[in-house]
Amino acid sequence: MKFSSLTQRIASEGAAAWDIHYRAMARQSAGEDIIVLSVGDPDVDTPDVIKAAAIDSINANESHYTDCQGEVDLRTMIAQWESERRHSNITAAQVVVQAGAQCGLFSVAQCLFEPGDNVIIPEPMYITYEAVFRAAQTEIRGTALKAENNWAIDIEDIKAKIDEHTRAIVINTPNNPTGAILSASDWQQLAELAVANRIWLIVDEVYSELIYEGTHQLPLKVEGIDQCLITINSLSKSHAMTGWRLGWVTGPVKLVEHLSNLALCMLYGMPMFVQRAAQAAFRDHQSITETMRDTYRARRDVAVNTLRAAGVPLAFVPPAGMFLMLDIRPTGLTAERFAEELLAAEGVSVLVGDAFGVSASGFVRLSFCVSRSDMAIAIQRLSRFYLKQTET
Ligand SMILES: Cc1ncc(COP(=O)(O)O)c(C=O)c1O
Repeated sequence: MKFSSLTQRIASEGAAAWDIHYRAMARQSAGEDIIVLSVGDPDVDTPDVIKAAAIDSINANESHYTDCQGEVDLRTMIAQWESERRHSNITAAQVVVQAGAQCGLFSVAQCLFEPGDNVIIPEPMYITYEAVFRAAQTEIRGTALKAENNWAIDIEDIKAKIDEHTRAIVINTPNNPTGAILSASDWQQLAELAVANRIWLIVDEVYSELIYEGTHQLPLKVEGIDQCLITINSLSKSHAMTGWRLGWVTGPVKLVEHLSNLALCMLYGMPMFVQRAAQAAFRDHQSITETMRDTYRARRDVAVNTLRAAGVPLAFVPPAGMFLMLDIRPTGLTAERFAEELLAAEGVSVLVGDAFGVSASGFVRLSFCVSRSDMAIAIQRLSRFYLKQTET
């Protein structure tokens, strides 16, 4: 039987990168002593107050179809939270609830782009982006970042890549995999570029609540930016809710109307109990996110200190996010060999940097999704393996 060409565009090569992770998980489930640093899924439980809200909703038989844009109570809370942190006025009409940021990204791409369009994205980039934009038949113009520059975005290169078919600049900050965040001047220049060229500035900010040093300030003072700015966020990382699939998009009302139409024919509304859980998450937003931030910061510190104590060079300490990129080029191994042999020799799984783009080849990505004690053990093992390679 025949399938559409879409099926080829969504069959991303990125999927192969997860192979090592799945093997590590299988061995861990079989009782082997494996520490998994290859995934960004928090090991932390969803806070009880959030779970209770979902259970109450189920018990109250809130089991019906919901508003496809998202329940207005929830959108109002999201709009309030967004307005407070941006010091500007975002209304519930500018918010559409989605099944996670992933669904938000996909929907935005579907509503904005057509064959022949291109988008500019700093690379390394999150693994699913390739399939998301390919599905929308949009060319990705990667702008390669350098570890030597602390993975900072290259405004001049972005400028040089803009042409008459460019429809958007897509920024993920704090970044997965690098943990880098944008500086105030980066934000300013990006916003000016977007406005001057009449292109969208799409910001994936799923790690915005996990900043340890520095700030995340959207460039709202640039005149005209409100017409170009789209933000995509979720509760996945900030509230340990990856499996609940609750995210949202903010942007101009017209875009939100289009996204709501797409949600109508694709999603038909998010479950009410998930939206009630999300409301509870927003009610206790500050205390929950503070706890998450402290948890991941402490793990990041354990990872960094353990690497340094062992004498493994680490040029860039991620100021945010859930990941650390380790330069393994001094070992003489490819990232793939390093990851495979590390798993075999020490029972630690990491993700190969190449999965995020060529500029991350020679790096492996470690996640902060294990306890501090496991993190210390994993990094000691990894350091032992790393140093053995550099000795030989
Ligand atoms: C950069 C980035 N964007 C989007 C997502 C998807 O998040 P969600 O669980 O909200 O769909 C992830 C998940 O790891 C991510 O790292």
